[in-house]
Amino acid sequence: IIKRSLSTSTSRNAISNITVIGGGLMGSGIAQVAAATGLNVTLVEVNADLLKKAEERIADSLGRVAKKQYKDDKSAAAKFVDETRSRIKGNTNPEDAVKDSDLVVEAIVEKLEVKHDLFKKLDKAAPEKTIFASNTSSLSIGDIASVTNRKDRFGGLHFFNPVPVMKLLEVIRTSETSQDTYTAMMEWGKSIGKVCITCKDTPGFVVNRLLVPYLAEAIRMMERGDASARDIDTAMKLGAGHPMGPLELADYVGHDTNLHILEGWHKKFPDNPLFVPCESERKLVQEGKLGVKTGEGYYKYNNLKYWVEN
Ligand code: 3HC
Repeated sequence: IIKRSLSTSTSRNAISNITVIGGGLMGSGIAQVAAATGLNVTLVEVNADLLKKAEERIADSLGRVAKKQYKDDKSAAAKFVDETRSRIKGNTNPEDAVKDSDLVVEAIVEKLEVKHDLFKKLDKAAPEKTIFASNTSSLSIGDIASVTNRKDRFGGLHFFNPVPVMKLLEVIRTSETSQDTYTAMMEWGKSIGKVCITCKDTPGFVVNRLLVPYLAEAIRMMERGDASARDIDTAMKLGAGHPMGPLELADYVGHDTNLHILEGWHKKFPDNPLFVPCESERKLVQEGKLGVKTGEGYYKYNNLKYWVEN
């Protein structure tokens, strides 16, 4: 009864302080979007260097958003960037960072043991009311939540890269996520400008369950020599209306991420041919060619933004 009344007190209006754990591509995007809509954000990274990188990424992306939103009004654009940045405080101590938090969104490495270590600590350090969410791409939210004593206040909030641009937020409820928690997560998602869809705690939720096998099929098509990377990408952009072709998108998401998702699912579901990891992607990862973020994947990138060579 006490737990229920406490979770009820996590009313939809109560989310004003959020903590984002992990300042990578996804975490920094989530922090940025939340701060841009007026929330106080604490962003956690393991050291000051990584915090600085996350802050730089946010500044760069905010500049792009401001340019679009404020067009020729340079001072309004600068004000928006400054005010948003001022709402984001860096912290290297996760336990300290959740002390006053209404919502924690975790976006760290996709390793269950590492997430468990983190959430065990956070569960002790955070107030009872605090909702915990994971931005995992492919792990089970229920498995992640299992080490905490707040399974009713635990769900999935799955964003898409680039977070400031992609409109979708997948809100995942486990069999133990309470109605109040679910409602609070949905309302929070809407309040930061996302369109929310709901999904059960199934592998890959909606988007990745369809997207990851599609990317792998495109890679296999190229590996068989049926068509070149460039032609497959052109085909899907012009023939199916996708903004990026599958090989470009695989480079954009990152081959470490793609491969990790496929390996995890292949281990869990060895009979599903759609989940078999691709050899050329494995080779790219071994060579450190992770895609756009390292300057090379199936394509080479100039200034980490555009492909320049097939
Ligand atoms: N921050 C802010 N703004 C950004 C941005 C960023 N990181 N990246 C792009 N933009 C803005 C640009 O400034 C530009 O604004 P403008 O319209 O005012 O000029 C606009 O977005 C379009 O960007 P570009 O002109 O550079 O290039 P595109 O038109 O090709 O758009 C894209 C880029 C939005 C990334 C588009 O190609 C796209 O939608 N690609 C597909 C992305 C996708 O599928 N993402 C999901 C991946 S799966 C995932 O994330 C799940 C995870 O679990 C693996």
